[in-house]
Amino acid sequence: MKKIAVLGCGTVGSGVVEVFYKNRASIERKAGSKLDIKYLYVHRPHPELPWQDKLCFDFDTIANDPEINIVVEVMGGVHPAFEMVSTCLQNGKSVATANKELIAQKGAELLATAREHHVNILFEASVGGGIPIIRPLHQCLGANEIDDIQGILNGTTNFILTRMIRQGMSFSDALGQAQQLGYAESDPTADVEGIDACRKICILASLAFGKHIYPDWVHCQGISQLTAEDVAYAQDWGGVIKLIARAHRLQDNGGIAITVEPMFVSHESQLSTVDDVFNGILVTGDATGEVLFYGKGAGKLPTASAVISDVIDCAKSTDTIDTLYWEQSDPVKDSGLLCDWSQLPAQYYLRLALQAPSQSALVDELFCSPVLLARKRQPATELAFVAPSMAPATLDALCDRLQQEGISVLGRIRLL
Ligand code: HSE
Repeated sequence: MKKIAVLGCGTVGSGVVEVFYKNRASIERKAGSKLDIKYLYVHRPHPELPWQDKLCFDFDTIANDPEINIVVEVMGGVHPAFEMVSTCLQNGKSVATANKELIAQKGAELLATAREHHVNILFEASVGGGIPIIRPLHQCLGANEIDDIQGILNGTTNFILTRMIRQGMSFSDALGQAQQLGYAESDPTADVEGIDACRKICILASLAFGKHIYPDWVHCQGISQLTAEDVAYAQDWGGVIKLIARAHRLQDNGGIAITVEPMFVSHESQLSTVDDVFNGILVTGDATGEVLFYGKGAGKLPTASAVISDVIDCAKSTDTIDTLYWEQSDPVKDSGLLCDWSQLPAQYYLRLALQAPSQSALVDELFCSPVLLARKRQPATELAFVAPSMAPATLDALCDRLQQEGISVLGRIRLL
């Protein structure tokens, strides 16, 4: 019999307990051993929980109990999760966690600690909720060099964008609806500003490229500045706006570029059809070509499903699974591992407000007479178009020039 402790009993933690007892027989068969949950670690009494006999308020009891083989960490946040998970690994207990913030900040350290103590730290649930993506990257796609990962990794922002696209809602109305339906937190900053997607792409990129990549290094922009007009122009262009987290190798010099930002995504891309709270991750391997992962990226039961798949692997493994690994890097000195995104040429959609129609001559001069989007609907003083490919730093300089002439940049969105 292998015994499990669950740290945290919120939505995901209670989902883990529910799914475990619902499917216990088949989970044990796959794990190859009898399993049971011995402790649920919580900070305060929870009279509403049905598992009162398992509640434990003292972490040291769990850390020092030799019967506990596997610990599930679903508390969230870096501290004290990092200290607790480290202690469990040092005490010879494997850990399954859904904590993306923890892995994005401390993944390399925890993987090294697990290796040193011949146990595992597994985190399938940290990216894409119920979608298998961590295990495919280091096992099923293990033969490949990964060239590109493009992901819709945040369900809340994808729900908001879908409402803006389908119903023409404003960002704030769509956010309000997401909050009412319980998708968005009361403080939605981490979701809407791209911070959550950034943590997730850093985990995938660290795994794909073998070195720890810190969220601080990544150019990260959220969706809070998008307007219904931008969404309509994307439609005229032939696509939709999605919050895309992308990590790819540059073809010319093999450098790594990572960005999180709203992008114009053509209807030809499979990602353009990933709607509502669903996530989609398009991985390009040098042998496989494109592989698409799609499913529920959040929620109690999908996330619990991924956590329990890790519990099964923890129970089965007799040593560290060594394909799941990346090297440590220095958060400050190694930031040059990533290319400077501001120098990477790309095409951008721009929406400008002119003071007078005659100023379009300057726009034509600076942007080589671009083809306008939705020519008929525009007021004479508004121009929207896709600029020729150029580095964002060059585009900044052109936008400065426009501002000097009294032309405002109302929207600026990269094309995928
Ligand atoms: N807030 C996250 C999302 C939850 O909306 O995708 C899952 O990580």
